[in-house]
Amino acid sequence: MRKPPPLAAVDPAAPPPNLAKRPGAVPIALQGLSKQFGTGVQALDTINFDIAGGEFISIVGPSGCGKSTLLRIVAGLVEPTTGACERARNATAAFVFQDAALLPWRTVSRNAELLMELEGVPAPERGSRAAEALKLVGLAGFERSYPHQLSGGMRMRLSLARALALRPDLMLLDEPLAAVDELTRDVLQEELSQLWQMAGFTALLVTHNVHEAVYLSNRVVVMSARPGRILKVIQVPFPFPRSPELRSTAAFAKLTGDVSAALRQRDHI
Ligand SMILES: Nc1ncnc2c1ncn2[C@@H]1O[C@H](COP(=O)(O)OP(=O)(O)OP(=O)(O)O)[C@@H](O)[C@H]1O
Ligand SMILES: [Mg+2]
Repeated sequence: MRKPPPLAAVDPAAPPPNLAKRPGAVPIALQGLSKQFGTGVQALDTINFDIAGGEFISIVGPSGCGKSTLLRIVAGLVEPTTGACERARNATAAFVFQDAALLPWRTVSRNAELLMELEGVPAPERGSRAAEALKLVGLAGFERSYPHQLSGGMRMRLSLARALALRPDLMLLDEPLAAVDELTRDVLQEELSQLWQMAGFTALLVTHNVHEAVYLSNRVVVMSARPGRILKVIQVPFPFPRSPELRSTAAFAKLTGDVSAALRQRDHI
């Protein structure tokens, strides 16, 4: 069995003080959200869903059903046509995209500082927070490298570090692991789970991978084909921290089977 990932700093029981679990992890209330674009495409239809502060929620659903649109609405980048997304206005949200979206002319350190620059964090603090976040994701020693000198998995880690350095109350993850190979993906899932347990942000993850959704989440939301509606919400009862061995248990297989069955259900409505 694969060994746990090299993230020595991660101990949910004793988080480092400056990334400690904060009471600020934001609850989110999605109230009757619908979205119709100017082109006439209706992406989302009456989404009602409450997320508790600090929860890890995964969203699965067919391509084009409005998952990214939903994340953009929660981020405040897109306005819903009807309904509302209620969350604390002063909450810091960090978005991690499927392609790591790095600036090729900037070093790893300077990429890690990018979102903090946009938020107006002063330069000396940016440096120390970037260094801390890079260490957390296992990129210490690569500060002066450029993105093209990193592997795909390392680029994704850098993208995560850039988001973590913001110390977000809310992490919005749009298929962040879709572009990496399966083994790297497993390792990054462990790391993401540990980071979430340590930092205590609310997490909203879009993924096409049913195993990933179940392994990482408190609850999995299954959406219908466009216009996206919530077909089913599946509770994942396994306590955290979870170990990779969980993936080969019958209980885990049962839950992934439930999610897959709910996804197939869309064909019959
Ligand atoms: N800015 C936009 N203007 C017009 N239509 C849009 C816009 N953004 C998304 N759409 C449309 O809304 C629908 C939902 O798109 P969205 O990107 O949210 O889907 P998705 O579930 O994330 O799909 P995928 O799994 O392929 O990433 C699609 O039909 C898409 O073409
Ligand atoms: Mg998408």
